[in-house]
Amino acid sequence: MNIHPKALDAIENFELPEKLGFGQTLAPVMYRVDYANGRWGEGLLLPYGELSIDPASKVLNYAQVIFEGLKAYRVEHVQTKLFRPQMNAGRLNRSAARMLMPDLPESLFIEGLAAVSAYADPLIPRLSGQSLYLRPLMFGTQPALGLGTSDRFTFLVIASPSEAVIAGTLRVVVEREGTRAARGGTGDVKVSGNYGASLHATMTAVDSGFNQPLWLDASEHRYIEELSVMNFFVMIDGELHTPELSGTILPGVTRDSVITLARDIGISVHERKLEINLLLELIQSQQCTEAFACGTAVIIAPISAIGEKDGTIYELVEESGPITQKLRQKLLDIQEGRVPDRFNWLLSIPQQYHPQTDSANV
Ligand code: COI
Repeated sequence: MNIHPKALDAIENFELPEKLGFGQTLAPVMYRVDYANGRWGEGLLLPYGELSIDPASKVLNYAQVIFEGLKAYRVEHVQTKLFRPQMNAGRLNRSAARMLMPDLPESLFIEGLAAVSAYADPLIPRLSGQSLYLRPLMFGTQPALGLGTSDRFTFLVIASPSEAVIAGTLRVVVEREGTRAARGGTGDVKVSGNYGASLHATMTAVDSGFNQPLWLDASEHRYIEELSVMNFFVMIDGELHTPELSGTILPGVTRDSVITLARDIGISVHERKLEINLLLELIQSQQCTEAFACGTAVIIAPISAIGEKDGTIYELVEESGPITQKLRQKLLDIQEGRVPDRFNWLLSIPQQYHPQTDSANV
């Protein structure tokens, strides 16, 4: 890996704002590696800055772009840790395959995360619930207007010292008309277009006093899928239920971690089809007592109400329910280093990526 001579200065001259928010403060370094002539080149850690991009590039014209989201944690850790980066590496490559983009070797993926996290180390928040949010991003740069895959690509890792994307409890609205993803589409991979397609319903939900739409299956609008940027869970009669991975839902890393943690504390977990109308009845009869959303950016957030566009509201517990609270705490305890890493989910940043090793190549 090469290191730009100004990378360290960028960090030393940087001041964190008092209020972090989510994704608003960008770390002043980034990682870049380019693909051309059938192979990936050498990685570069450089100061954060604008890119120059051809107006005819595939990414601008045909949205050949995918991304990931994961976090680096300090809080109680002596050394910064990444949470389950290998899962993100695997998912990035599944997204890449779906979008006819080249496989990125896991070693380059980890190198990018490690270098950015190591240089941005002084900016990694120490408060519980805060972390360095890492955003790996890959896109096609070939300038050519015919519809076809690019022959060259850029992979970046940018980062943002952040709080959870949404604080407090969530109110969600059932989306009975719009569609996030259909079978055979790209719903189960992390393609930027999925998020663009969800924007209209998401902003309409926000304008109506909700945080996010609750998406249903595309063919019948009958079964719950997920929220725009989070997976969905409910407690019914003391057991945890979540929509099964049907091919249209994103297989979240946090979703997988929640399932593991719940089973570990003896809660039965069912990955299955969840019918929206049945769920609303179960909320009314108080058989469904808790609902929550989870994702890297949001961690685990309780859902306090599910609404319909006609104004009907199905209220859940006002604050966090006990199981939601317990799972959130268990997850954060591992991520932030208060308990042993029993599932081997954390990866330490290898010493070689830290700036004090020299500003020459590592
Ligand atoms: C994440 O949780 O990493 C996400 O992808 C959410 C982001 C789109 C805000």
